[in-house]
Amino acid sequence: MIEHEYDALIVGAGGAGLFAALEASKAKDLKVAVLSKLYPVRSHTGAAQGGISAALGNVEEDHWEWHMFDTVKGGDYLVDQDAAEILAREAIETIYDLEHYGLPFDRTPDGRISQRRFGGHTHNYGKGPVRRACHAADRTGHMILQTLYQQCLKNDVHFFNEFQVVDLLIADGACYGVVAWEILTGELHLFRSKATMFATGGWGKIWKVSSNAHTLTGDGAAVCWRRGIPMEDMEFYQFHPTGIYRLGILLSEAARGEGAILRNHSGERFMERYSPTLMDLAPRDIISRAIITEIREGRGVDGKDYVHLDFRALPREVLEEKLPEITSFARTYLGVDPAKDLTPIQPTAHYAMGGIPTDIAGRVIWDEQNTPVKGFYSAGECACVSVHGANRLGTNSLVDILVFGRRAGRDMVRFVREEAAKGKITASPDRTAAETFQKLLAANGKERVARIREDLQVAMMDDCGIFRSDEGLRRVLGVIGELYQRFEKIGIEDRGRTFNQDVLESWELGCMLDCADATVRSALNRQESRGGHTREDFPNRDDATWMKHTLLFRNGADYKFTYKPVTITKFQPQERKY
Ligand code: FUM
Repeated sequence: MIEHEYDALIVGAGGAGLFAALEASKAKDLKVAVLSKLYPVRSHTGAAQGGISAALGNVEEDHWEWHMFDTVKGGDYLVDQDAAEILAREAIETIYDLEHYGLPFDRTPDGRISQRRFGGHTHNYGKGPVRRACHAADRTGHMILQTLYQQCLKNDVHFFNEFQVVDLLIADGACYGVVAWEILTGELHLFRSKATMFATGGWGKIWKVSSNAHTLTGDGAAVCWRRGIPMEDMEFYQFHPTGIYRLGILLSEAARGEGAILRNHSGERFMERYSPTLMDLAPRDIISRAIITEIREGRGVDGKDYVHLDFRALPREVLEEKLPEITSFARTYLGVDPAKDLTPIQPTAHYAMGGIPTDIAGRVIWDEQNTPVKGFYSAGECACVSVHGANRLGTNSLVDILVFGRRAGRDMVRFVREEAAKGKITASPDRTAAETFQKLLAANGKERVARIREDLQVAMMDDCGIFRSDEGLRRVLGVIGELYQRFEKIGIEDRGRTFNQDVLESWELGCMLDCADATVRSALNRQESRGGHTREDFPNRDDATWMKHTLLFRNGADYKFTYKPVTITKFQPQERKY
């Protein structure tokens, strides 16, 4: 293996990874590297279109306490409130830092950062919608990536682009780096590092209809799970209400923030019935359930499995200037002009609330006592600091990845200075990664990766989507078991070393199966309905039994659940009405 050594190594070049790298690179004596399976500005942060929230109060009165409350209530009270307080407070300085780094936010007529409405964001603890989301048209995530990448280059962060992380170097309760596959050459590299961070994104591709790019296959989470780190709250997965019909590509919630509304077959604004106060700006779990309920009860358009998003009341200049990206998506993928036509949408798999468990410094933890894995950090969608609880509010993803990405970067510097052993790292990997890739390159069975992936996506959509039941979850768990067996019998066509997508996709499929396995087992285990996890056989939230976080461990064929309490500081759990 080709060997490298760094002080701080960050895997993933989305918002969390780049902000951590930027922060770490401020310590000029530290060698900092980012390793990414993509060219950095193609990372999935770019898909967060509509905005990033912070209680700046530029357009309407706002306070960080209101933002914190909305986050806690939006997450159906499973949110760790110490994390939510940090998120809401630090969002404000984060926005101004981004502005000073050069992010081209849209402006109010008097030159301040403009803000718009988003689902679940309210004034006065739920009284009505508030304009809290700062935006750069509907390309906010893209602008964050460009801004942070440029700052990292300026600070001499070393980038290894198109490197796929495949294993973690863990020994004696500490992390010493990673093994990565260089996609260009097919060579394995060993990256030793005093502090390592995973910011590897989510696993939305395990569902058939998904807003996620093809690369979102849960690699980082799967690698951790295989090395004994538990997965937290995997049962909570968010479906965004407005994906383009059949394709799942996102049409930003900013559309509804600017005034678009949802209509069923008869043209009724059906959200009036489900959320009398916030209507089309209710949290995503509520709207996605409402859409599926409309469809199930025969009020989908033409009896089909979609409803309409109606932009027609929006002035054309709002579409062209504030929502140009999604206006063009609707034209390109649906052949409709949102200014004149109704736009077909359906809920789309979007965001993981659960994942690799961390504390508020971004340190990965081993267990329910919050024991840190020394020198190992995680932030962004792959991580669970539990700031979203059972359902994330729109725009809070960008806040989460930046606030906690930066905190992780800071603590990595502290760790390198105060806790890491001095001198060269001697830990070396076992043969797992090398053997896995030898086996994949030689695979000559009859099963096809694309077929297994498709079967997984369909089964997850059918039985582990917005509505779930014991019967359906057991069915999909059985399917996953069969797919694991079929995965052992795959064959590949390309045996070369250069850009071998065949091998890469095979390896990714193994990660997808692991993420699906953890999701379904956790969903089966949690016998209540809360936020994005709706059990038809347990329709109520059950605080007496289930006000706790799930940790799922796997050791070979053995699975074990343990639980962690929810941190409650300012807001006691209440009935969740909007
Ligand atoms: O709807 C959107 O623009 C998505 C934002 C988010 O997921 O936070």
